[in-house]
Amino acid sequence: MRKMYRLNHKSSEVIYGEIPKFSYSLNLYIVDKNVFELHQTFFNEINSNDIYFFDASEGNKSFFEVQKIIEWLKNKNFNRSGTMWGIGGGITLDITGFVASIFMRGCKLNFIPTTLLAMVDAALGGKTAVNLSNIKNMIGTFYPAEKIYIEPNFLTTLSSTELKEGWSEIIKISLIQESNLYEEILQSNLKVSDDIIQKAISLKMEICERDPEDRAERNLLNLGHTFAHIIESISQFEISHGNAVAIGIESAALLSLRSRWISKEVFEKIMFPWRKFKLIRKKKLINYMKNFDENLIYKDKKMSQQINLILFNGFQSTFKTNFKKNHLIKEILLDITKNEV
Ligand SMILES: NC(=O)c1ccc[n+]([C@@H]2O[C@H](COP(=O)([O-])OP(=O)(O)OC[C@H]3O[C@@H](n4cnc5c(N)ncnc54)[C@H](O)[C@@H]3O)[C@@H](O)[C@H]2O)c1
Repeated sequence: MRKMYRLNHKSSEVIYGEIPKFSYSLNLYIVDKNVFELHQTFFNEINSNDIYFFDASEGNKSFFEVQKIIEWLKNKNFNRSGTMWGIGGGITLDITGFVASIFMRGCKLNFIPTTLLAMVDAALGGKTAVNLSNIKNMIGTFYPAEKIYIEPNFLTTLSSTELKEGWSEIIKISLIQESNLYEEILQSNLKVSDDIIQKAISLKMEICERDPEDRAERNLLNLGHTFAHIIESISQFEISHGNAVAIGIESAALLSLRSRWISKEVFEKIMFPWRKFKLIRKKKLINYMKNFDENLIYKDKKMSQQINLILFNGFQSTFKTNFKKNHLIKEILLDITKNEV
């Protein structure tokens, strides 16, 4: 299956279940080294000298690594007639996209996401990012990949914990707007299917097409992310992104309930898939909350004087609001650590 999307003046094609041809000489690859080791036959057609083996961690999603990759590209005499490929999870794609967007003012870029989270989220829509010390995604650009190859076989080597990371983003998109994805998730018993992946991709890409630079509707995709970035920062990235998003969505739902934007019944419906599939892990958060620094709230890039939050005002209905009561963030996080969902 192939589907072309328009993001501003660029096209971004999602190609499902087709292995790309790597026959051009001017290709260079930034590859998650775990993925290379686990899927060596996939890389048979690629000369290993053309691969930059990337150690995917939030600590390496950094300027230091950006510079190392750029120097490697320069030594390879890479130029704008070549294509850069990012092959890996969200961390690898975020940094590859960022380098591609700034190297010689932008070169061709293709992605092969290898985690569920990257297939349904990080590879799509052109947001690139690196962290600045422990501030998440502080630096980035909008630079969509021209081609995104979704190869579900990569999912066979993911652990159940890593698969849960992806499910967090799939459930998130099912809660943002009306669709039958929510029911399909409940019926799936967390068995990944082509249909669910494709539906999640379409829902995200359609929002990105309408608002490629995240100025209005696309903000809704940040549901749970204001909390998530704080959680990732206070845990120095010990709490993974997908789990932080899950905790963040519970926090947003609880704040919506307390602010009377949603009823208890809607709150329960929002929380149902997370509980049914035991997707939220909070044990680590309890420890990190002891050292919670309120200033981190202001360092999140989504915030200025006020806190920008995406909250629920119904089931599959979300809205953006500015929150002045910053202490509520800490209060909500402390409260949700007390209840295991
Ligand atoms: N740009 C965006 O729009 C966007 C959206 C969502 C998340 N993100 C970013 O994505 C990152 C999280 O991505 P992720 O969850 O994919 O994490 P990741 O890139 O760290 O990958 C998780 C782990 O899985 C390993 N891995 C990757 N593919 C594998 C495979 N097929 N089999 C076995 N192991 C494999 C990696 O080596 C790593 O250890 C975060 O930095 C987040 O900020 C970006």
